[in-house]
Amino acid sequence: MTQDELKEAVACAALAYVVEGKIVGVGTGSTARLFIEALAGMKDKIAGAVASSDDTKKRLEGHGIKVFDLNDVTDIPVYIDGADEINVAMHMIKGGGGALTREKIVSAVAQKFVCIVDGSKLVDVLGRFPLPVEVIPMARAYVARELVRLGGAPIVREGVITDNGNIILDVEGLQIVDPVDLETRINQIVGVVSSGLFARRPADVCLLGTSSGVRTMTAD
Ligand code: 5RP
Repeated sequence: MTQDELKEAVACAALAYVVEGKIVGVGTGSTARLFIEALAGMKDKIAGAVASSDDTKKRLEGHGIKVFDLNDVTDIPVYIDGADEINVAMHMIKGGGGALTREKIVSAVAQKFVCIVDGSKLVDVLGRFPLPVEVIPMARAYVARELVRLGGAPIVREGVITDNGNIILDVEGLQIVDPVDLETRINQIVGVVSSGLFARRPADVCLLGTSSGVRTMTAD
């Protein structure tokens, strides 16, 4: 199976986690886009969605799915999104698509995070994929120096401004052996909006696309 076919398989499998009559949180990226296509087939069975990016909002509305402002919502039984890397503890690197902050906010509200990835995203140690960090523009140089102190090599993502009007530093060279600790340390750098490390709030379920089918993983 191709990587796209594996993504499509997990996107369709995620429909089983959508709670009828309720609002679903929807992520961003190519796998989330396939989930939106699949969700369109059951749009009359859900109350609507909360989107993690302007792009996702546009796509959901394009399918006639009502998109709620997060401030008007308290109950999101499930958030469904892809990831750039995930480990067996369900810690993730996200933000390859630049939507990390809103993804983190919507997933914080959701009761359950279902991560949908093809098998290539499962790693022993997070960090080969550069860790995205969203930064207030005037703090760019300071935050970059602090990230170097943490052992990384930050690079400005050229030409990218997030939906929140900020920049992204992609941090290379990290071997993240303690994801919760690193997430906490990065959160403490003044000028950081959020990092793409999702360890303090990991996924609850990972649907992993493999050539032998969709494998369901949970953190024990
Ligand atoms: C976007 C994300 C995506 O979930 C992540 O980049 C994975 O994307 P894809 O499904 O295209 O592989 O965090 O900000």
